[in-house]
Amino acid sequence: MKKLYLFANWKMYLDASESEKLARAFGKISSPRGSEVVVFPSAIAVSAVAPILKKNKLSIGAQNIHWADHGGFTGEISAAMYKDFGCTHALAGHSERRHLFHESDHDVRLKLEAILDQKMTPALCVGETLEERKAGKVEEVLERQLHSAYANLLFPKGIDLIVAYEPVWAIGTGESCDPKEAERVVELIGNSVKKLTGQTPVGLYGGSVSAENIRHYVDQPNIQGVLVGGASADKESWSALIEKLS
Ligand code: PGA
Repeated sequence: MKKLYLFANWKMYLDASESEKLARAFGKISSPRGSEVVVFPSAIAVSAVAPILKKNKLSIGAQNIHWADHGGFTGEISAAMYKDFGCTHALAGHSERRHLFHESDHDVRLKLEAILDQKMTPALCVGETLEERKAGKVEEVLERQLHSAYANLLFPKGIDLIVAYEPVWAIGTGESCDPKEAERVVELIGNSVKKLTGQTPVGLYGGSVSAENIRHYVDQPNIQGVLVGGASADKESWSALIEKLS
């Protein structure tokens, strides 16, 4: 049985006390043996949630970071600051950051480097919009995103190189990607990343993952786990989803 990566992105769904409550619930839900669960709470909930997750051997990550360590960047939080609160992982280039907050490929690269500088594990998110898919540009878009993220980057050994395929049109829409197509794209991503870095990435799928469809993804040979948004921000839906893996 392959090691499964189960990432829970709570986005901006929960306040600090709701997050604390859900973290306690996560602690009681036993995930499959050998799997790695990483929770990405809102920035304001990190300090409340971190000790609870740690006690239950679950990891904690930042949803977004700024690439500078310190400085005059009103409203931003650095990777170093997240690390200080126990974060071991950080997302880079989530599509909501790219599209709603206009993060460029260059911004994402700077974030990746800053996360690695802190010896944290970055999870890069890549994916095409519906228009790009309809125009037959999936490969071209992914190649651009991956090249910008990894070209000439010395990716340290001993840190998982994680890439999540997250088609923009599948995120938060209830319209998940066909598992065979997700597998095809994750394999493609794997080949590109190998060419760029010499390393084999951990390939995840994200976009409307639920208890109903999770098995179809994790049963694919190249998909090693999932990045779950909406269904991870609720005790019942998360436990239903985990149950499908046992
Ligand atoms: P979703 O979000 O599961 O709500 O579609 C996925 C994500 O945050 O990457």
